Amino acid sequence: MVKKIQIAIDGPAGAGKSTIAKIVAENLGFTYIDTGAMYRAVTYKALKQDIELSDAESLEKMVLNTSIILKPSQNGQLVFIDGEEVTQAIRSNEVTANVSQVAAHANIREILVAKQQELAANGGIVMDGRDIATHVLKDAELKIFMSASVEERARRRFIDNEKRGIPSTIEKLQEEIALRDKLDSEREASPLIQAEDAIYLDTTNLSIEEAANEILQLANQKMI
Ligand code: DC
Repeated sequence: MVKKIQIAIDGPAGAGKSTIAKIVAENLGFTYIDTGAMYRAVTYKALKQDIELSDAESLEKMVLNTSIILKPSQNGQLVFIDGEEVTQAIRSNEVTANVSQVAAHANIREILVAKQQELAANGGIVMDGRDIATHVLKDAELKIFMSASVEERARRRFIDNEKRGIPSTIEKLQEEIALRDKLDSEREASPLIQAEDAIYLDTTNLSIEEAANEILQLANQKMI
């Protein structure tokens, strides 16, 4: 019987978190939760409704009247907002360019963090994001801070975008990633930082399998 621990994975955009977290979850029979998808879903709806993204109060009103459902499936996590499937739509360039602004509002974070904690309450979870180890799951048995060089992260996003049919260039992606890193790390509410008890994993020169195996080994030690 596997001990149903909580695994928190944080790190900047393009470090490989979601791909690797998904493999780890699959191997352990755990549920994978991509919390970035929640911030993206909120951004998607706000853009659609023409809500001013700097207006924290209007955004909060909107979020309180929104259903966000993350549904694990064979093809990864499906995302629904008010019943509409937005799994792909929330990856658009427009959402990506605006999501950091939405994620910077403390009141929005509070609502989404409560949902995330509810989802993880029974353990058996691999959750990725920016503040999972520092705020959402402070007692997680295993905490990983995953990163990679900006160049490598841009290269990965480029390949990912090509697969999804999203047009981009490596140079533009590097700029966007560097800007998003800055916004996410320097914001006041729950900035992206490594938790004191998190293990640092640099994936620049690791394959997906190697990184997943490192985490699986660490997880197995925690599950004894
Ligand atoms: O991982 P991602 O690129 O899908 O995340 C989208 C944005 O959401 C990112 O700019 C930072 C923010 N985010 C956050 O602030 N806290 C989280 N737990 C997850 C994501």
